Amino acid sequence: MDAADPLARFRERFHFPKRTSGEEILYLCGHSLGLQPKTAGSYIEQALRDWAELGVEGHFHAKDPWMPYHRLLTRQTAELVGAEAAEVVVMNSLTVNLHLMMASFYRPTRQKHKIVIERGAFPSDQYAVKSQILYHNFDPAGSLVELTPREGESCLRDEDIEACIEAEGDSIALIMLGGVNYATGQLFDMAGITKAGHKSGCIVAFDLAHAAGNVPLHLHDCGADFAVWCSYKYLNGGPGCVGGCFVHQRHARAFDLPRFAGWWGHDEKVRFQMGPEFHPMAGAEGWQLSNPPILALAPLRASMEIFSEAGMDRLRAKSMSLTGYMEFLLRQSPSTKFSIITPSEPHRRGAQLSIRLTGHGREICDRLATRGGLGDWREPDIFRVAAVPLYNSYRDVYRFVQQFSIALQ
Ligand SMILES: Cc1ncc(COP(=O)(O)O)c(C=O)c1O
Repeated sequence: MDAADPLARFRERFHFPKRTSGEEILYLCGHSLGLQPKTAGSYIEQALRDWAELGVEGHFHAKDPWMPYHRLLTRQTAELVGAEAAEVVVMNSLTVNLHLMMASFYRPTRQKHKIVIERGAFPSDQYAVKSQILYHNFDPAGSLVELTPREGESCLRDEDIEACIEAEGDSIALIMLGGVNYATGQLFDMAGITKAGHKSGCIVAFDLAHAAGNVPLHLHDCGADFAVWCSYKYLNGGPGCVGGCFVHQRHARAFDLPRFAGWWGHDEKVRFQMGPEFHPMAGAEGWQLSNPPILALAPLRASMEIFSEAGMDRLRAKSMSLTGYMEFLLRQSPSTKFSIITPSEPHRRGAQLSIRLTGHGREICDRLATRGGLGDWREPDIFRVAAVPLYNSYRDVYRFVQQFSIALQ
């Protein structure tokens, strides 16, 4: 399979962490932090050189001038999430963008004040939505709806999500789900959820931390109102890299929406006239606050270039095959110490498999790590691994499952 893989050559474009023995680590942790593209350094060095040689003039005369630097990422980002260019902007970090979006799109009333999330959503999302509810003087006890799997199940059923929206729609202001759930790896039917949410007059939004760069996305067509994501997982932008934000075209000129404003969201034609009144730019860029961090954007360019070359459709095809292979190998194991909780239907998951370990799960992961196999542990009992199609091979998967079996024993 590796010999026939048209994407195999992309592995060479990434740095693999090594063990003290010099052997490459079996890195199956791209769902947490993507590997460094070998060209990332040159983008950062170029920005540093321009700064050293040009000082403030770099804003206009750098090799890639800093004023419009963030736009170097716009076209590729829009393609990656299935959006129009004006619907996306690369800025801030995920949780900051989530708050900025909720400042505009979570407008609770006495009748419609609830926010729907997954039970056990990523903690930052839970904190963010609860704090927004409190900020508007509502109580999470009555305003937070947590979608919960059925007894004995780990993932949510589409029909249960839709039933909840239908039942509580009149009081739901915002539905904010992960595109791919961080713990289970479940990929949600974003178009179906959006349709159901809009039917009940709700704002529908997605946290795409585990979906961007992992699965093909069609944000414009699915009609979601907004989405936010980070760029350090499947997008390989580096630790704490700048996040992304999508605002659907239908809101592009909603200038009457309240928003937290900053000068970089102000109409760029008159930004430097330094006037006191804020006139937001149309589209997602109107939610920017500050001038962009060039040194943090630079490595993301290296990765996005690789994504454009590889193509999301080809990546998805390989990803389904790699993850299917990993699941197949794991299911050969006679061990009763683990179960896979990620849905087994390929269209309901991305690259990640979540393995529930009974007993000494953390020790098993630590033992595996000392043997060079790296996934990550999420309390209380989940071991997450992802075979990332840009840089993981079928051989990685095979060796990983071998090592995992030994660690289990
Ligand atoms: C699903 C999800 N949401 C939110 C976050 C928080 O991201 P940030 O620290 O960039 O705000 C993470 C981080 O891993 C995440 O996995």
